[in-house]
Amino acid sequence: MHINVKILRFDPEKDKKQHWETYNVEAEPSDRVLDVINHVKWYLDPTLTFRRSCAHGICGSDAMLINGRNRLACKTLLKDVVKEGGTISAEPIRGLKVEKDLLVDMEPFFDAYRMIMPYFINENAAPAAERIQSPEEAERMDHGSNCILCACCTTSCPIFWVNGSYIGPAAIVQAHRFIYDTRDAATEQRLNIMNQNTGVWRCRTAYNCTEACPRDIPITQLIEEVKRAVMYQQS
Ligand code: SF4
Ligand code: FES
Repeated sequence: MHINVKILRFDPEKDKKQHWETYNVEAEPSDRVLDVINHVKWYLDPTLTFRRSCAHGICGSDAMLINGRNRLACKTLLKDVVKEGGTISAEPIRGLKVEKDLLVDMEPFFDAYRMIMPYFINENAAPAAERIQSPEEAERMDHGSNCILCACCTTSCPIFWVNGSYIGPAAIVQAHRFIYDTRDAATEQRLNIMNQNTGVWRCRTAYNCTEACPRDIPITQLIEEVKRAVMYQQS
């Protein structure tokens, strides 16, 4: 199939603002958007800048707006987003500073992630064997464990767009993962972080995050669970 790939370009060394550039590409319907973006870089314009690594939906590095919606380029098949002769668009994810083309500064996103202390905390002496959990207990934290920190959720959130200090859905998903880990002992500290004015109460249940998640994590549901846990702690 022949398609047009329209990419929002920006080179801070020569551009005052972003502009669209369109490339004509021949591809298969079963190709992924990442394949055609790679094609543009490798054969048409080597200056095109974007992140990708695993190309299999694992590393979370190639989140971008494809046809106006946050997706992973390596998990999006052409046949699902464009027809023969049609055009697909690719833009950087929103709410983070664009460094160049599709590449954004991810530091604010990872600063929020670090805020929730994304590591196991338990000062008690470890038992001789593992710290045992029941399958039901393990299931409660499964969703957060599946997160690949791609930022599709946080950068589709209108609250995050207007107030970058909001910790964002990805960080709350990670907080949920530890709050509901029965082996972890820092629940109270994490709930206090969630209760700050940059925390969970900023969520207005827009639902964009849940629709954007490439791992089908029920983000809004997890955020509501964290809100209830904070309310319970405060009561
Ligand atoms: S919750 Fe989903 S959309 Fe958000 S960072 Fe994790 S994998 Fe990406
Ligand atoms: S390149 Fe790793 S998730 Fe797409």
